[in-house]
Amino acid sequence: MISERNSTRHCMTRLEDKINMYDVKKIRGDFPILKRTVHGKPLVYLDNAATTQKPKQVIDTISDYYTQHNANIHRGLHTLSQEASDMYDNAHVLLGKFVNARYPMEETIFIRNATEGLNLVANAWGRYNLKEGDEIVSTEMEHHSNIVPWQLLKEEMGAKLKFVNVREDGTLDMEDLRKKMCSRTKIVACVYASNMLGTINPVKEIGKIAHKYGALFVVDAAQAVPHMPVDVQEIGADFMAFSGHKMLGPTGIGVLYGKKELLEKMHPYMAGGDMISEVKLEGSKWNILPWKFEAGTPNIAGGIALAAAVEYLNALGMKNVRAHEKELIGYGIETLSKIAGVEIYGPLNTDIRGGVLTFNIKGIDPADVAAVLDSEYGIAIRTGHHCAQPITEKFGLKSTCRASFYVYNTKEEIDFLASSLKKVKDIFRK
Ligand code: ALA
Repeated sequence: MISERNSTRHCMTRLEDKINMYDVKKIRGDFPILKRTVHGKPLVYLDNAATTQKPKQVIDTISDYYTQHNANIHRGLHTLSQEASDMYDNAHVLLGKFVNARYPMEETIFIRNATEGLNLVANAWGRYNLKEGDEIVSTEMEHHSNIVPWQLLKEEMGAKLKFVNVREDGTLDMEDLRKKMCSRTKIVACVYASNMLGTINPVKEIGKIAHKYGALFVVDAAQAVPHMPVDVQEIGADFMAFSGHKMLGPTGIGVLYGKKELLEKMHPYMAGGDMISEVKLEGSKWNILPWKFEAGTPNIAGGIALAAAVEYLNALGMKNVRAHEKELIGYGIETLSKIAGVEIYGPLNTDIRGGVLTFNIKGIDPADVAAVLDSEYGIAIRTGHHCAQPITEKFGLKSTCRASFYVYNTKEEIDFLASSLKKVKDIFRK
């Protein structure tokens, strides 16, 4: 008995140590922008689902690249080109390992953003593999980047596009998904974590259903990879796209993970320099993976800086990042629900919710809420349909307020948001 108690105590101590190691104050010190003021008030940045701020480690990496190593890659025998090539290539391996790709280099394609990744799949896989009457299944809670490419593909190929229902509690109707699958389903395209509702979808289960019908499983992980441990092999993704700027990296760089055997069989997306192994006037041969899908001079500095962002996240530990955000979203839901007139959208169960707090105040235009929060209190939130108009309208809304959290946010900031919202209510007498 005694030894059991001791061992429990020992485990608890280790867990407490881990939580204590997550030092938000220290983390905030790495983000120069968090020291600035907005309209004379300290910045409270709660628009992380749109883009995250950058730590000095990432900013310094960009500066170091341009001051010490700048050269084009895979083209020069000189020292700078070899240094830049090594840094850029290693960045692919690091990103691939970050999502547990089986072949971290070959399966990691650098693209501009998740949108480009999903377009790549629709064009380079969909246009060559779909036939008239084939079906694509997506969901009602997608970002436009996981709707519009499939609409274009549907029109071009004469395919059908179906959307899985979202229930009132903001979760996917899995029964409806099963009903919408059939032998003609070729693609299941689903968001891992919703940027509007915060819902974390049961992707592993969805992947299994897709594969049972022989369909590809395409995952939009733009709001998942930055916030929690993600394992492409575990969820069975055939393709998975995410953006660097939502995970402490620069804009203009992102990743498309693709299964090696699929990428090898696919046609290129963009054509030109570096994606070929041989060009004759009669025809060309393609480069090895992943370069076959990276035509032209890529965003070299962006890729290297994204690797620095991943090193930063790895040092924090993705489990700790998720634990921190889970605590913030739980606290955010609890705190804002106490304000009369505030309506919160999406699941209230924090086990299936990311750090996205979407709400409205009854009778006040979300744009007015955001404008007052910014001008009077220095708080940055986003309003609108968040590039997810169908799900916003499904909830009978045109626009919502959205506060979204990341590694550097605190409960004090949520308290400040809540007290400021009460003052917004006073201003509009609601
Ligand atoms: N898709 C990003 C957002 O949700 C821009 O804000």
